[in-house]
Amino acid sequence: MSIELKTKEDIEIMRKGGKILAKIFKEIENELKDGITTYELARKVEQLMEKYQVRSAFKGYRGYPEVICVSINEEVVHGIPSKDKYIRSGDIVSIDIGIEYKGFFLDAAKTYAIGEVSPLAMELLKVTEEALWKGIEKAKPGARLSDISWAIQEHVEKHGFNVIRDFVGHGIGRRLHEPPNVLNYGPPGMGPILAEGVVIAIEPMVVTGSFEVRILENGWTAVTVDGSLSAHFEHTVAITKNGPIILTSD
Ligand code: MF3
Ligand code: CO
Repeated sequence: MSIELKTKEDIEIMRKGGKILAKIFKEIENELKDGITTYELARKVEQLMEKYQVRSAFKGYRGYPEVICVSINEEVVHGIPSKDKYIRSGDIVSIDIGIEYKGFFLDAAKTYAIGEVSPLAMELLKVTEEALWKGIEKAKPGARLSDISWAIQEHVEKHGFNVIRDFVGHGIGRRLHEPPNVLNYGPPGMGPILAEGVVIAIEPMVVTGSFEVRILENGWTAVTVDGSLSAHFEHTVAITKNGPIILTSD
């Protein structure tokens, strides 16, 4: 399937939706502290989605039961909010939120340190966020898709961490997942040439140990097999003639 190019008007709508998503992230940051359950966090986000008149892109997606994903420590992605899952000081917590706004989807994720975390965890968060920015820098017309992938992998491995292979970024627009798959690893100079109007979610998932994952009995949550820590940063990005526009920033 081919990559659907977005018009200037489409991108303007997506930018507005992205600003709403950025606001939702900002507004939950104060709630993110020791003792809150991931269920309570999800309810808070649900209220904000109502307030801003946007819909959760995740709830009901292939049967996913909740409005957001909250993945703690060795959980890589797709942590399901639960009443008995508490966020604790010392945890790193990845929050992934997708919304639908005026017929377009926006997707973003961020990993937070709760209270004081280990130096290794701090380094993981820093390197993963930097890797996202390295990827975004390559999202320009004329570049090849895998230039993004390689920029991410190179930065991560330079710092002794590893990139998850089993989950990837994606095209996004009128659907949450569209072509192309945006890998976070692999050699540069491969895949389609990026054109103006391509919109993608770039989302490195990075671990301190091995990149092997397994899925928990709930059928969703991916965790590292070796129990090592995992971080996840994601932005929805539009490629324009003036370079990348981060749609999901404030
Ligand atoms: N942000 C993730 C992605 O891009 C999460 C979606 S999976 C869902 O694939 F089931 F939670 F929707
Ligand atoms: Co995504």
